Amino acid sequence: AKEPVRVLVTGAAGQIGYALVPMIARGVMLGTDQPVILHMLDIPPAAEALNGVKMELVDAAFPLIKGVVATTDAVEACTGVNIAVMVGGFPRKEGMERKDVMSKNVSIYKAQASALEQHAAPNCKVLVVANPANTNALILKEFAPSIPAKNITCLTRLDHNRALGQISEKLNVQVSDVKNVIIWGNHSSSQYPDVNHATVNTAAGEKPVRELVKDDAWLNGEFITTVQQRGAAIIKARKLSSALSAASSACDHIRDWVLGTPEGTWVSMGVYSDGSYNVPAGLIYSFPVTCRNGEWTIVQGLSIDEFSRKKLDLTAEELSEEKALAYSCLS
Ligand code: NAI
Repeated sequence: AKEPVRVLVTGAAGQIGYALVPMIARGVMLGTDQPVILHMLDIPPAAEALNGVKMELVDAAFPLIKGVVATTDAVEACTGVNIAVMVGGFPRKEGMERKDVMSKNVSIYKAQASALEQHAAPNCKVLVVANPANTNALILKEFAPSIPAKNITCLTRLDHNRALGQISEKLNVQVSDVKNVIIWGNHSSSQYPDVNHATVNTAAGEKPVRELVKDDAWLNGEFITTVQQRGAAIIKARKLSSALSAASSACDHIRDWVLGTPEGTWVSMGVYSDGSYNVPAGLIYSFPVTCRNGEWTIVQGLSIDEFSRKKLDLTAEELSEEKALAYSCLS
């Protein structure tokens, strides 16, 4: 039997946490043959709710669960974890300045970086979900210098999956037959969902999405804005954020990172830029990646047309500004 893997979920008493922990417990993230010990962190005001989640995990009698740690102590939560999914953060409230929200999250991610650096298992893989996801991940990376930069990522897989979903709806094809869309940049409305290299598996073989959709106005307009603004559309409809799809996509992100992407398929992940595609180095930026042996690699050599170039640069600019804002909160 496999040794259990310790998986941390921060913000575990929140909405995404509530959707995510049963998925992990069912093997959606790491496989149905992989036992897990769940570590759940939240803050003292949510301690009672967190304990309620723990009670439900006991009640559900998940065979893969070999232990549950539910705590408001970051050190206890981070100790020995192999995977850390960072969902906890400070949400933007009405009337709050961007800088104030950034400042709250910078201090949370700075503190949790230290707890992870000192207490997580060696080679711990980190996925930041909480917004501003890219910049929270960057702060975590900066304040956990002994964790390799390649181990720190942020979630743009939800945006990637949303793009697959939109193409599948437009063409009336199975979503599993669509692949290789790309989300470039920030997990914000400046992100660029790119279909220029995406394909659909058809009875006549693999076909480019551009060839099948035959509607450039839609692909260059409504498709992009729908994906960029999908989060807001869900909040409007549900009066709550997209928890089910965020949790499911977080599982996809970790599963593909750990177990590998299928041959010929790439996915989008927010990773530490090495300057690929002339994206400034030193930002956490979403790129197309393939994964093998537990490591991601940025897909190289894709052609970037002028339309795309502008959009890659625009979202990079926003991330550089966020980075500067985050640093101004530190001083
Ligand atoms: P929520 O408000 O329901 O849950 C957040 C939880 O984090 C709360 O239980 C809160 O007590 C906890 N928390 C706050 N500060 C904490 C700290 N210092 N340590 C540990 N826990 C802390 O929010 P929800 O809907 O679960 O969303 C969580 C985050 O994920 C938000 O920042 C949201 O914007 C983001 N998000 C990101 C997506 C992505 O694709 N990257 C998609 C959807 C949401």
